[in-house]
Amino acid sequence: MSKTVIETITGYGYDGEGVCRVNGKVCFVPFTLRDEKVKFKITKDTSSFSRGEVVDVVTPSGCRMNAPCPYFGKCGGCTYQHTTHQNELNIKKEVLLGQLRKLNFNKDVKVFASPKEYNYRNKIKLFVDNNKIGLKLRGTNIICEIDECLIASEVINKAIKTIRTFLMAQKLFDYYSQVVIRSEENVCIVNFYMKKFKNVNYQGLYLMLGSNYGIYQTYNHQPEYKIGQKEIEINRFGLDCKFSVNSFHQVNDDIEKILYQHVAQAVKGKKIVNCYSGGGVLSGIIALGKNFVTGIELGKSEHEDAERLKDENNLIYLKNIQGDCAEILPKVNSDVETIIVDPPRAGMDKKVVQAVDATNAQRLIYISCNSATFVRDAQGLKSYNLKEVKLFDMFPRTGEYEILAIFDKNN
Ligand SMILES: C[S@@+](CC[C@H](N)C(=O)[O-])C[C@H]1O[C@@H](n2cnc3c(N)ncnc32)[C@H](O)[C@@H]1O
Repeated sequence: MSKTVIETITGYGYDGEGVCRVNGKVCFVPFTLRDEKVKFKITKDTSSFSRGEVVDVVTPSGCRMNAPCPYFGKCGGCTYQHTTHQNELNIKKEVLLGQLRKLNFNKDVKVFASPKEYNYRNKIKLFVDNNKIGLKLRGTNIICEIDECLIASEVINKAIKTIRTFLMAQKLFDYYSQVVIRSEENVCIVNFYMKKFKNVNYQGLYLMLGSNYGIYQTYNHQPEYKIGQKEIEINRFGLDCKFSVNSFHQVNDDIEKILYQHVAQAVKGKKIVNCYSGGGVLSGIIALGKNFVTGIELGKSEHEDAERLKDENNLIYLKNIQGDCAEILPKVNSDVETIIVDPPRAGMDKKVVQAVDATNAQRLIYISCNSATFVRDAQGLKSYNLKEVKLFDMFPRTGEYEILAIFDKNN
């Protein structure tokens, strides 16, 4: 039987879990807050740390609140619904500052809060298994069935129950692995990922969802348009942008706009290389200011979106290259003045870190959704000094956040 202890939480771990000491050893207790006296079970005990699961909050913090979502704590999605949004941002900032100290960066970090605390996500990935559709139970691969997700947009939530009814009525659960739903304003596209092919008629589902929805089916990585709306379309700073169904797109539109504005303002000079450039929206915004922008993007559908954005908006200063930054960046002109990087969570390949370090760019702008890999990459950038870091609240109520870091070349 696992041991139960009562301790007071003194700080936070990198994932925002409460931290205390049990017999001198660090113990991480998720969903607890500083100064709370908490009763918890020890669920994992190693030679260097232990983990606990709350049984009772004996003395709650003034920042504690009841989570509005019935799945909170069970579902692996959210981390902070037990506290106020403001306190969540304070914790995220504190955790980030702790990470930045590894880089000897001791300046303050400005925080940009998401205007929407809930219903901000324009994308949700639902898993299908064992006659169930939903998210995953925390720390497992088991499906947590949900009727709605409070952080997803209203138009996404309207679709979830209808899709479940459709899968049940048509006995289709065995054919799918995932259902990805994306929205923009009132338009919503549902993409069914098949693991076993079947010719499915989606007409009935479309009638239930309504004409503002579109349906795709993806098998063997090939998306196939089925019915209804074809594309997600947005306007950013006067640019018309269209996204293919499988392309990357930032999940919080309000914060995306603020983040891109800050990046555009931080750019120095006229010759810019934008690495990991996705569907090209940021490249396009910077090119609008008559800057020569080269975007480098590996993904085929993202590259095609970026090319379409360039053509449809007549962006003569923009050049999009499809390829791996590790191969393309070392070949890019030596007269580049600003490099922007926005890698996936795994951070940059070592070769990219070396290639960035070897350029003459006066400024480096690093956008990251993972402060641990950001710190690792920054430690490899010997010829750049970290000047400023900002925290953007891209993923409220979850454990994640976006950072914007500005470096200048050592002289
Ligand atoms: C975090 S997203 C950023 C996209 C874009 N900057 C934006 O704001 O929408 C990372 C992008 O990097 C691309 N990517 C991943 N590995 C890459 C690589 N080795 N070289 C170039 N692009 C890569 C992904 O396809 C994805 O579009």
